[in-house]
Amino acid sequence: MAAFKTTTPEEFIGNPFSMIGSDWMLVCAQKQDGSANAMTAAWGGMGVMWGLNVAYVVIRPTRFTKEFVDASDNFSLSFFEGQKKVLNYMGTVSGRDEDKIKKSALTVLHNEKAPYFEQAQVVLQCKKLYAQELLPGCFIAKELDDKWYPIRDYHTLYIAQIEKILVKD
Ligand SMILES: Cc1cc2nc3c(=O)[nH]c(=O)nc-3n(C[C@H](O)[C@H](O)[C@H](O)COP(=O)(O)O)c2cc1C
Repeated sequence: MAAFKTTTPEEFIGNPFSMIGSDWMLVCAQKQDGSANAMTAAWGGMGVMWGLNVAYVVIRPTRFTKEFVDASDNFSLSFFEGQKKVLNYMGTVSGRDEDKIKKSALTVLHNEKAPYFEQAQVVLQCKKLYAQELLPGCFIAKELDDKWYPIRDYHTLYIAQIEKILVKD
């Protein structure tokens, strides 16, 4: 397995639309006891906010991973090549019901602030800056509220500073 090297947001080459929207990512965080959980996400972004390079993700209240993200100051976003089957599994089964990381055969690494995966091609190490549940009254496009939240399980938006980008050659 190739080693990761660190790159800067300025030097990073990647298309966030395909990386997140088409190829998907794993959001991973750990609790104080060192236990980790991860879930697939296809919504989110990368950009600049408050003069900082940031990533944002949205997590519904039912996700077990939300407990881990809420319990930690940090989370990671891992991007893969050729792991769609594993990502589909991580996005359809809950860590409440199975030890997903073990069953997925992914190797979780704990040598950074947030756990991440050895099999990833790119990893963003993120520090939480802001969290807020989306509010129905704030939708300008009301049809999106009706379409995506029929049972009113609004995502929490997390905006996080990208502290480190790890890439494989
Ligand atoms: C392709 C794909 C994209 C997903 N994107 C998101 C997302 O952006 N936010 C979210 O809350 N759930 C998303 N999910 C659903 C979670 O990954 C799924 O509910 C998962 O089983 C949660 O696992 P957990 O309970 O172990 O956290 C996505 C699922 C798939 C398959």
